Amino acid sequence: MKTLADAFEHTLQDIYYAENQIAKSLPNVIEAVTRKELKSDLEEHLQETKGQIKTLEKVFKSIGKKASGEKCDAIEGLIKETEGVISDAKGAAAKNAAIIGCCQAIEHYEIARYGTLREWAKSLGHSEAHDLLTGILDQEKAANHKLTNLAVTMINKT
Ligand SMILES: [Fe+2]
Ligand SMILES: [Fe+2]
Repeated sequence: MKTLADAFEHTLQDIYYAENQIAKSLPNVIEAVTRKELKSDLEEHLQETKGQIKTLEKVFKSIGKKASGEKCDAIEGLIKETEGVISDAKGAAAKNAAIIGCCQAIEHYEIARYGTLREWAKSLGHSEAHDLLTGILDQEKAANHKLTNLAVTMINKT
């Protein structure tokens, strides 16, 4: 990695890998939660995630690159932790709350990545990529807010 353009491409590959892993793991998370409001929010975010993968493919195309992923240790760790919580948590209330915590760690990771990527896109003069990445960033922020609301209004009280 020598230039900002290299860093941009590398980080794009990293988040592309991460989104694909998230799309693979979310069905297990959806199955594990017991509150229907939480289930439906996560189902909605799974659909959004599949759309984000397509949007990232457009981002790659807009900079003249082929979409490809590069193994991301951070997301592997976050997903592994979520799987651990799913198998360890005993009571339903604790399980829902703990799973929300894990999902929010993943959302925050995504928010950090997309915040960086869209600023780099801007600096590099990739305006289409900037706008596409900003659209994804807004979805991640909204998903995180929904989880916070569910936790504080419903889940943490049960
Ligand atoms: Fe995402
Ligand atoms: Fe997300």
